Amino acid sequence: MTILCDPATRAGQLSPAVGVVGSNVITAATLAEADRLLAADPAELLVVIGAAVDLDEALTFAEALRFERPAVGVVLQREVLEIGTLTQALRAGVREVVARDDLSSLADACARSRALSAQVTGIPQPGTGERRHGQVITVFSAKGGCGKTTLAVNLAAMLAAGGERSVCLVDLDLAFGDVGICLRAEPVRTIVHGLGMLGHVDAAGASSLLTACRPGLSALLAPVEPGDAERVPASLVSELLDVLPTMFDYVVVDTPSAFSEHVLAAMDASHHHVLLTTPDVPALKNLRVTLDMLDLLSYAHDIRSIVLNRSDAKVGLTMDDIQRVVRSDIRAHVPSSRDVPISVNKGNPIVLDLPRHPVSEAISRFAREHVLAEPAVVAAKSKRWFR
Ligand SMILES: Nc1ncnc2c1ncn2[C@@H]1O[C@H](COP(=O)(O)OP(=O)(O)OP(=O)(O)O)[C@@H](O)[C@H]1O
Ligand SMILES: [Mg+2]
Repeated sequence: MTILCDPATRAGQLSPAVGVVGSNVITAATLAEADRLLAADPAELLVVIGAAVDLDEALTFAEALRFERPAVGVVLQREVLEIGTLTQALRAGVREVVARDDLSSLADACARSRALSAQVTGIPQPGTGERRHGQVITVFSAKGGCGKTTLAVNLAAMLAAGGERSVCLVDLDLAFGDVGICLRAEPVRTIVHGLGMLGHVDAAGASSLLTACRPGLSALLAPVEPGDAERVPASLVSELLDVLPTMFDYVVVDTPSAFSEHVLAAMDASHHHVLLTTPDVPALKNLRVTLDMLDLLSYAHDIRSIVLNRSDAKVGLTMDDIQRVVRSDIRAHVPSSRDVPISVNKGNPIVLDLPRHPVSEAISRFAREHVLAEPAVVAAKSKRWFR
């Protein structure tokens, strides 16, 4: 979405230049109205101020916005371009000034502003980069409390590598999701705001639902209001997981501990299934049932990775006992450490907080050896032959 503030311009007149494919333009007759529209949409990133708006008012607006919402770009149109106006505008934080009749310059300025906003927020904006072919990685365990959220959050943070790659972490634990808490991210926009886009989710719509968390790391957070989780249909998850890989290098999905339709939609969209267990009999039994279920649903074996969390817990089971139940390689052993809940309480993933910690090293090694180094293995999306 883009806000176009110009009392003299009829809606739609400038829209093709201001917008990009899939991105809507809403018009505001006054700057006060533009302000209200901005306040109502924390994901808004571009305001175009038309030539009919008073220069001083436009500059005051831009100056305030620069401090309140630095990610939002302001593009200013003027009847004629004068050096004095340009200098004043740049000083006030306006990103570009274009002549009123120069629609191609306006389109270019809007595209540049969106690209800059994408860099500032870490959320890719539609029309500002190449279409990606990202990998979807779903982290699942049928037993609660095994460490799915811990692994998903840390895997996503490790893959983002401080902005080297773009990663979106999706919280599919719709009723009790705590990705937001683990990353200290305010759930202003959540998946529930995507309900109005059902049937026509595009990159612009998807990006408006995301929360920027760290450089390169965005999150699609779970709803916060009680009852909202039930309103989210599995088809919305499928649509989002179709679009997000075109915007990010990696999409990591955290799940609830149940084989819901939403989880199956994520499994369908995934290039990699990461199945988590701990070394105790109930968790191992549930992993065995999960593996049999995935076989029954005809998901490919080679897209699976089994990760043993709290692998060093002395609970009377040997590695042979575990291997006998799992019947396939365990690709990562993540040790137990009180530093994990400490990092959760701090709201900073342990891979970022303590990168040399044995837990961080185990997760980083797994990411390097089985996610980053094996694009060929996970190249094809998982397809069930029948359900
Ligand atoms: N390797 C570990 N060492 C110590 N504590 C851990 C480890 N992994 C996870 N934990 C802790 O165990 C608890 C459960 O972890 P987490 O929330 O990641 O599990 P989950 O599978 O997502 O749970 P749920 O099914 O409720 O969503 C958390 O308090 C977390 O800090
Ligand atoms: Mg969880």
